[in-house]
Amino acid sequence: MFRSIVTSLLAGSAIVSSAAWAQDRQQSVSASDMAAAQERAESIVAQMEPEEKVRLTMGIMPLPIVPGGEIPEAAIPAAGFVPGVERLGIPDLTETDGPLGVAYVMGLRGDYATAMPAGIAMGATFNRDLAYAQGTAIGAEARAKGFNVLLAGGANLARDPRNGRTFEYISEDPLLTGQLIGWNIAGVQSNEIVSTIKHFALNGQETGRKFVDVLIDDAAARESDLLAFQIGIEIGQPGSVMCAYNRVNSEQGCASEYLLNQVLKEDWGYRGWVMSDWGAVPGLYAAWNGLDQQSGSQLDPDTFFDEDLLLAAQADPAHMARLDDMNARVLTGLIAAGVLDNPVTPGGEIDWEAHARVAQQAAEQSIVLLRNENDALPLARDAGSILVVGGYADSGVLSGGGSSQVHGEGGPAILRPLSNTGAFSVFISEQYQRGAPLNSIRARKPEGTVRFRPGRYASDAAALAAQTDVVIVFATQWMTEGLDVSDLGLPDGQDQMIAEIAAANPNTIVVLETGGPVDMPWLDDVAAVVEAWYPGQGGAEAIAGVLFGEVNPSGRLPITFPRDASQLPRENIPGMLEYDPDFGGNPPSPDSKLYTDYNVEGSDLGYRWNARQNQEALFPFGYGLSYTSFASSGLTTDGSTATFTLTNNGERAGATVGQVYLVSRNDENLQRLVGFERVELEPGESQTVTVDIDPRLLAEWNETGWTIFDGDYGFALGEDAERLGPVVKVAVQGRSWED
Ligand code: BGC
Repeated sequence: MFRSIVTSLLAGSAIVSSAAWAQDRQQSVSASDMAAAQERAESIVAQMEPEEKVRLTMGIMPLPIVPGGEIPEAAIPAAGFVPGVERLGIPDLTETDGPLGVAYVMGLRGDYATAMPAGIAMGATFNRDLAYAQGTAIGAEARAKGFNVLLAGGANLARDPRNGRTFEYISEDPLLTGQLIGWNIAGVQSNEIVSTIKHFALNGQETGRKFVDVLIDDAAARESDLLAFQIGIEIGQPGSVMCAYNRVNSEQGCASEYLLNQVLKEDWGYRGWVMSDWGAVPGLYAAWNGLDQQSGSQLDPDTFFDEDLLLAAQADPAHMARLDDMNARVLTGLIAAGVLDNPVTPGGEIDWEAHARVAQQAAEQSIVLLRNENDALPLARDAGSILVVGGYADSGVLSGGGSSQVHGEGGPAILRPLSNTGAFSVFISEQYQRGAPLNSIRARKPEGTVRFRPGRYASDAAALAAQTDVVIVFATQWMTEGLDVSDLGLPDGQDQMIAEIAAANPNTIVVLETGGPVDMPWLDDVAAVVEAWYPGQGGAEAIAGVLFGEVNPSGRLPITFPRDASQLPRENIPGMLEYDPDFGGNPPSPDSKLYTDYNVEGSDLGYRWNARQNQEALFPFGYGLSYTSFASSGLTTDGSTATFTLTNNGERAGATVGQVYLVSRNDENLQRLVGFERVELEPGESQTVTVDIDPRLLAEWNETGWTIFDGDYGFALGEDAERLGPVVKVAVQGRSWED
C-alpha cells in the first residue's frame, strides 16, 4: 500500500502540474475500512485478560529527561510509547511528533529528518496534492525510523495571530484547513502507520494553555473549529484524535463530554481513539467522558489509566464495557491504518533526495509575494551590487520551536538558546535550518558584489545600504509552542532597522521569516515584501528562486494580516500579563479564572470577522502577487458546485488559486470561502475548473443539525477575500440534516 507520490515529484520541473499529482492522491483509509477494522478490533478485545486491557490505555514519554518511571528497552526516544500485547499480535505503539517532519526531541536519538515548511506555509500553498506529498514523505520517514504513530495533523484554526503555535497550524478557514490537513493525514497513513489530528479542540493560545477556559456556543464551534476537524477526519480518517490542553465551556478538553462523547463519537461517528495531549489528563473521570488513552503519563498528576482504571472497571460492569470500548478504539485505529498487518520495523531506507524535493517544492509554493512596487522583483542577475542584511541569512532559515521542531541533517545551523530553566529549556531556542539564503543568492549572482551584514547594528547596515544597488533584509519573528507573542511587531528592533535601511535605499526588499502575520510600519517605504514563513530545509533555495524569478511566486495568505491589533477581536491574548510561559510545567488547574471569550467573533474568524466589522486588512486572506497576471471569470453555480475559468494573461508560466466565496444570503452579507483550486497555467492558457460546495458552508448549525435556509445565495470569485468579482445569485432550497 506504499502509494508514493514522491517519484512523480522527482520527475517534475520547478513547477509541477498538480493534475499529475492528483492521480496519486487517494484516501488511504476510508470510513468503511474503519468500520471493518472495528469488528476485528472487538474480536481481539474479547480475547484480552483484564490486566491486558490497561496496557493500550496508558503511555509514557520515553525520554531520560522526563522524571518518573522506567523506560522500557523497546521504546525509541521520542514523544510517546505504549506497550503492546505480544500474545495477541498487538505491537508496541511508538509515537513521534509531529506535523513538520519527524521531530528531533532534543537530538536524543542522534538522527535527523527532512524538515518541511511550517503548517501555515502548507496552508499558503492551497495545494491538496502537495499536502498529501508532504504527509507521504514524513510518514515514510517515521516508519523507517520505527514509529507507527505520527503525532501530526495540527488542525486548530488561527483565531489569534499571536498564538505561539500559529506556525504549526494551517489557516483561519475551516475549509482550507480541513481539506489540507485531511489530505496530509491521508499521505501519512499511506505508509500504514497512524496519524493523529490535533489538538481537539479550540486550542487557540499558549498562555495558560492547560487551564484557559474557552467560551464558545455550540453553533459557533461547529461552524468553525469543529468543522475544520470534521472535514479533516472525513478525508484523512486518522486513527487517533489528540484532545487539547485547554478547557472548553469549563470542561477540560481531554475530559470534555461535549467534545469527545457528544460531538466526535456520537455526532460524527468517529471509531478511532482519543489520546490525550501530554500532561492534559485531569483524572480518571476523563475516561468516562470519552478519553481512550493517557499519553506521556509522567507529565500528569497521576497514572490514572492503569491500575485505577482496572479497579474501577472490575467494580462496575459499565466501566468494564467502557474499558473494552477504549481498547477496541485503539485497535480500530491501528488495524485500519495497517499497523497490525504490516508492523513497523526500525532501520528502513529513506529516499532523502525525493523528500528534499518535496520539502523544496513545498517551500517554493508557500512563498507569498506581498508587495512588488515597480517590478522590483524578480532581480536581474546583473542587478548591480546587493547587500543582504539580518535574519542569520548567512547561515540558515528560521524554524518554529516546541514539540514540532525538526532536526535536519547536521543539526541546526544556528541554535540560539533563550532560556536555561527546566528540562524543556532546550525547546526555548531559536533554531535555523541549514541552507543559507546568502549562499543561494550568491550562487545566482556570480558577478558583482553580494555583501552581508548581520543587522545587529542598524547604523552600519544603513550606511552600507546607501552605497548598494539593492538591499535584501531578512526579518524574523520566532514563535514557539508554550509562548504566545506579545504583539505583532518584529522583535529586537528589526522594524527600526528596516526603516533606517529603507530611508537610506528605497530599493529595499524585505524577506519575512515569520510564523504568521506581522506589522509592517515601514511597508510604504520598501520596494518589495516576500513572506517566506518558516520554510524548512528547502527554504534558502526557494527564497532565492523567487527573488531571481526562477520560481514564480504562487503562495496565497491562509491568514489575514491585520492593519494593527485593534482590528482583532481581542486587544491582547487573555492572561498574557498574569501568567508565565508554560514550557511543560503548569498542571491543569480547575480553579483558574482565565477565560477567553470566542463568542466575540463566534464562527467569523479572520477575513469573516473583517467582513462583519467592515474593515480592510493590511493584506487579506487569499492574497498573493505573481510575476504574471491572472483573470478569473465566468462563474456559474447551482449552489452545490461552482464552475469558473482561470486565465494566465501575462508572459510567464505561473500558478493561481481560484477562490469562490459565498457573499450573501437574501439581504444579509456573509463571507465564507466555499471552494478553491490551485491551477498551473502557461502564458495565455485558460483552464475551467469545477469545485464542489460543501453544504455545511451554506448552512447554520441549529441545535441538533445543519439548516440551509430558503433563499437567494450570492457567490463571487475572489482574487482574495477582499477583491471580489461580480455576484452570481442562485435560489437555494432550504433543508435540514443531522451530522
Ligand atoms: C504538544 C503536542 C505534542 C505532545 C508530544 C505536547 O506538548 O501539545 O502537540 O504532540 O506534546 O510531544
